[in-house]
Amino acid sequence: MPAKDIYPINDRLLLRSDKELMLSQKSRVYWFCGLSGSGKSTLAIQLENDLHNSGIFSVVLDGDNLRGGLNNDLGFSDTDRMENIRRVSEVAKTLVSNGLVVIVSLISPKKEFRDSAKKIIGSDSFREIYIQSDFETCLKRDVKGLYAKAEKNEIKNFTGKSSSFEIPMDPWVS
Ligand code: ADX
Repeated sequence: MPAKDIYPINDRLLLRSDKELMLSQKSRVYWFCGLSGSGKSTLAIQLENDLHNSGIFSVVLDGDNLRGGLNNDLGFSDTDRMENIRRVSEVAKTLVSNGLVVIVSLISPKKEFRDSAKKIIGSDSFREIYIQSDFETCLKRDVKGLYAKAEKNEIKNFTGKSSSFEIPMDPWVS
C-alpha cells in the first residue's frame, strides 16, 4: 500500500500544544528527589490520583519499578545512577513532549544528576521537588529493611550512608 494511503498527505506533524489542547492540560515533569524511604513513591501515587480525579492525565516513572525493567542492568555507582537518570529523563522528555504530566520519583542524589535531567527535559518543563526527610527519620521508618542492611554494611553505596545525598538548594517545592 502506498504511504500516502496510510498517512494522508495533508496530515501535519502534531505538536505538543495540539496534544495539550486535546487533553486540556499543561504538560510538565514533576521530578521528586529525596532519600530512599522518604515517601517519594507514596506522594507520587497520591499526586497521580489527585490529578486523575481532576481530569489530568499523568504517568509515574518510579525508580524502584524502572530498576526492575528498563534499568535492570544498572547498580548504584555514580556512573550507573547517572545513566539511570539519563534514561528516565529521556523517557520523561518523550512523554512531556506528547502532552502528558510526568511524575518522576528517583533518589537523584547529586546536583549534577538533577541538572542533567533538567537539561535533557528542558528547564521550562522541569519542576524539581525535594521530598524532605532526613537520614535518621528514614532509618527509623525503614519500610524496605534496606537501612538495617546498610547499617550492617550489607549494601554498598547506600544513599545517605556510603554514598552522598546533596540536598537541593533551590528546589521548586520542598
Ligand atoms: S537513583 O540514585 O539512581 O536515583 P533510584 O531512585 O533509581 O536511585 O533507586 C532507588 C531505590 O533502589 C531505593 O528506593 C531502594 O529501594 C533501592 N536501593 C537498592 N540499593 C540501593 C542503594 N545502594 N542506595 C539507594 N537505594 C538503593
